[in-house]
Amino acid sequence: MLRAPAARDAADLAAGVGDRRVSRWLLHVPHPYPPALARAWIAQAATDARAGTAATWVIEEAGAVIGVVSLRLVARHRHAELGYWVARRAWGRGVATEATRAAVTWAFAAWRAERVFAQTLGEHPASARVLGRLGMRPEGVRRRHLRKGARYHDAHQFGVVRAAWRDAVGHNARPDVAARSDRALPRARPRGGGRPRRAAARGRPAR
Ligand SMILES: CC(C)(COP(=O)(O)OP(=O)(O)OC[C@H]1O[C@@H](n2cnc3c(N)ncnc32)[C@H](O)[C@@H]1OP(=O)(O)O)[C@@H](O)C(=O)NCCC(=O)NCCS
Repeated sequence: MLRAPAARDAADLAAGVGDRRVSRWLLHVPHPYPPALARAWIAQAATDARAGTAATWVIEEAGAVIGVVSLRLVARHRHAELGYWVARRAWGRGVATEATRAAVTWAFAAWRAERVFAQTLGEHPASARVLGRLGMRPEGVRRRHLRKGARYHDAHQFGVVRAAWRDAVGHNARPDVAARSDRALPRARPRGGGRPRRAAARGRPAR
C-alpha cells in the first residue's frame, strides 16, 4: 500500500536508497546515504505536502517500506514530475508499475494535472519500461542536462498528457477527489492496465 512517510520509516528508507544500485539512478540521492538524511527527507515531504507543492508516498509491504513514489507540482503549468524507487530485493515484481500508476492517477485527479512527466539519468531500460507501461511517451533526450556529483548525464524525457491518459487508462478525473497527499492511497489495479478502481479515483484510504 501507499501511505505518507512517517518518522519510523527512516531506517527502511536509508537501507533501500542506500544501495548504490538504487541511488545511482536518483539525481538527489548521495552514496553513502546517512540515516539523518532520511529523517530530513521525511520532514521535508510533510512540509511539501502541506504546501501542496509535492506529494510523496512510501510503498509499504508486510510492514516494511520497500520504495517511494513522489510527484512535484509546478502549479503555473499544472504539470507534475514523477519520481520513484524500489528496494533492490523487491525489483521485478511490478511494484514500481503499480505504485506509479496509482500516483499518476492521483496527479490527474487530485491536482487536475495537465501533464505528468519523468526523466531518467541516462538510458535506463527498466525505468523506461515502467514509464511506457504508464502510457508515457519518450519525448527525447536533453544532452548532458543533469549533473550528479562530478558527472553530467543525458536526461531522457517521458511524459503523458491528460487526454492521452484518459484515453489509455480510462481515468475518470473527478473534481471532488481527495486533494491531500498525506492520505494512504489504495492499491492500483494489477499490472495489465484497465480502468482504475473507483476507490482509487476517490483517493480513499487503502485499508
Ligand atoms: C526502475 C525501478 C523503479 C523498477 O522497479 P520494479 O518494481 O522492479 O519495476 P517493475 O517490476 O514494475 O517493472 C520493471 C520492468 O522493467 C523491466 N526491466 C528490468 N530490467 C530491465 C532491463 N535491464 N532492460 C529492460 N527492461 C528491464 C522488467 O522486465 C519490467 O518490465 P515487464 O514487467 O514488462 O517485464 C527499480 O529498478 C529501481 O528502483 N531502480 C533504481 C531507482 C530508479 O531507477 N528509479 C527511477 C528513476 S527514473
